[in-house]
Amino acid sequence: MAQEVRGVIARSKGAAAELTTIVVPDPGPGDAVVAIQACGVCHTDLHYREGGINDEFPFLLGHEAAGIVERVGEGVTGLAPGDFVVLNWRAVCGQCRACRRGRPWYCFDTHNASRRMTLTDGTELSPALGIGAFADKTLVAAGQCTKVDPAAAPEAVCLLGCGVMAGLGAALNTGNVQRGDSVAVIGCGGVGCAAVAGAALAGAATVVAVDIDDRKLDWARGFGATHTVNSRSADPVAEVRALTGGFGADVVIDAVGLPQTYLQAFEARDLAGTVVLVGVPTPEMRLEMPLIDVFSRGGALKSSWYGDCLPSRDFPMLVSLYLQGRLDLGAFVTETISLDAVEQAFTRMQSGEVLRSVVTF
Ligand SMILES: NC(=O)c1ccc[n+]([C@@H]2O[C@H](COP(=O)([O-])OP(=O)(O)OC[C@H]3O[C@@H](n4cnc5c(N)ncnc54)[C@H](O)[C@@H]3O)[C@@H](O)[C@H]2O)c1
Ligand SMILES: [Zn+2]
Ligand SMILES: [Zn+2]
Repeated sequence: MAQEVRGVIARSKGAAAELTTIVVPDPGPGDAVVAIQACGVCHTDLHYREGGINDEFPFLLGHEAAGIVERVGEGVTGLAPGDFVVLNWRAVCGQCRACRRGRPWYCFDTHNASRRMTLTDGTELSPALGIGAFADKTLVAAGQCTKVDPAAAPEAVCLLGCGVMAGLGAALNTGNVQRGDSVAVIGCGGVGCAAVAGAALAGAATVVAVDIDDRKLDWARGFGATHTVNSRSADPVAEVRALTGGFGADVVIDAVGLPQTYLQAFEARDLAGTVVLVGVPTPEMRLEMPLIDVFSRGGALKSSWYGDCLPSRDFPMLVSLYLQGRLDLGAFVTETISLDAVEQAFTRMQSGEVLRSVVTF
């Protein structure tokens, strides 16, 4: 039977996040209903409610979640009620061109629930990133549920569901940071600090964290930054060059996604180095630069969608590193909040007070 639960929606562009009653249908074939235990507040939720992603309002916000499978639909194998899962937005299809070419981390046809959650008046909701987990329960495709070790704390490992995976993967997968590399990370929110942690985990020798907020730089140091630069008071390009023997970094990760931070990343990089764009720009942003620089500086200009992760490969491995004490996922959690406090968490995110607010249930 369909269930009525609490959920946080963005009703229209710019409207405050609103706690309301939503209807979660029974799982259709291939679906699962998950009782959410924890869900992080990601900048992408704010992009949704500001109309920066698309116009398919109302959105059911929240997408960095962990919980317990409550029910599964017909035909679901390998997942059962009681399983502890981290939700993902890359339920690899196995059939699309990317999958068939052996590059499933680019899967163009990831699976989502076969049925729609609604408001009580029947209005269909668009779940953020096909998840919608600022809700007591949500309906997803079974492939969006990645089983992980239940010994892990939900409020820490839920973050692997989006921002922390995106940042770790930007360094480990997309940037392919190697032992001894120099790395710079521009923007040290949840995603950028995870990129710092990923660079440190990969054995980078120099990890320069850049932000406009000293509090973020302190956090970045805790995750393994060897140097920090406040780009309000110093030129990050000159600083990164100075810290890398005058060369620039081997890999520069832009975890903000503004034209100016992208240009800084481009220029703070050594010749033939790699730029990774993991911050998400908005559609009106434009880049103007001499094309000759793209040619003469060489190297690779890459984007990182979800850290090029494969949830089934990466989530259990990262949870294992976390449980061994080698990856401090708990350090990303600045505060745990209740479901009715998402709007205030957006405000604190914008003012830079938090790395991650996590809703617990
Ligand atoms: N590519 C992906 O798959 C993916 C996944 C999750 C999030 N994201 C995106 O990553 C970005 C960061 O997300 P977050 O949750 O860490 O956000 P956040 O708001 O927590 O962090 C952003 C950080 O950037 C800093 N910043 C802002 N302007 C800056 C500037 N000009 N120079 C240097 N630093 C600056 C802020 O002080 C803050 O520390 C967002 O755009 C988000 O949508 C991308
Ligand atoms: Zn696919
Ligand atoms: Zn996210």
